[in-house]
Amino acid sequence: MLDRETMFRAPAATYDRFVGRYSPRLAAALCDAAGIKPGQRVLDVGCGSGALVAELAQRLGAENVTGIDPSEPFVEAAQDRVPGARLVVGSAESLPFADGEFDATLSQLVVNFLTQPEQGLGEMVRVTRAGGVVAGCVWDYRGEMTMLRAFWDAAISLDPDAADEGAVMRFATPEELRDLWAGASLGGVEVTTLVVDASYEGFDDLWEPFLAGIGPAGAYTASLEPDGQAALRDEFARRLGTPDGAFTLSARAWCAVGLV
Ligand SMILES: C[S@@+](CC[C@H](N)C(=O)[O-])C[C@H]1O[C@@H](n2cnc3c(N)ncnc32)[C@H](O)[C@@H]1O
Repeated sequence: MLDRETMFRAPAATYDRFVGRYSPRLAAALCDAAGIKPGQRVLDVGCGSGALVAELAQRLGAENVTGIDPSEPFVEAAQDRVPGARLVVGSAESLPFADGEFDATLSQLVVNFLTQPEQGLGEMVRVTRAGGVVAGCVWDYRGEMTMLRAFWDAAISLDPDAADEGAVMRFATPEELRDLWAGASLGGVEVTTLVVDASYEGFDDLWEPFLAGIGPAGAYTASLEPDGQAALRDEFARRLGTPDGAFTLSARAWCAVGLV
């Protein structure tokens, strides 16, 4: 069972070594897909530790960037990363912003974690001006998000009851993501892929952040006894070819873009 309240309360530095390792490159790809350009005011919903906020600030100037996330440690880390941005603690389902306040609203790896995703998307549309863009992305948990796919394949081979994100995550197919966007009355909806990679110094560099309990995969790892963790570590490494030294993994996300 996912505990959405505590899953992202870990230190931001640990998140940045975990899934956050992919976030800066994914942020650049999401901005390109959304057509972000100078002069725009943009909102990042579920900003986490601030990778997308930083990318937006580079493109638009920090004063034109707003971010929101329910995790206080993440919002603090994002504020340290981009001091000039406006960052607030809060939820997608109830955005504390005016109608049409932004030219674009983006959301990176977040809609699948919302308790009320349709309400969250509705709010993203409300705060974006007519003609503006709402864009978001979700990992391809079932296929080509290599790190998480190999992790869950290892986990379910040892424990068939493990809650594989590929099976439980919503909006992790292009069809489901498109339906979420189209259902929020967005026009011209297009779903594309974003493919990025991340580098590791060795297998432990990949494995250690899993022990911190972040996100569903980390929470699952942290819930195991030491013997179970050791078995999972070995099987996970085996499925990645038992890397000896540095390696790189690629990750694919589905990306939806629509017009208000
Ligand atoms: C996988 S992280 C992605 C963080 C960041 N966007 C990135 O790409 O690195 C998911 C984020 O969604 C946030 N989140 C969870 N529930 C949320 C909600 N109801 N509204 C907004 N953000 C939420 C979490 O706190 C976390 O920062």
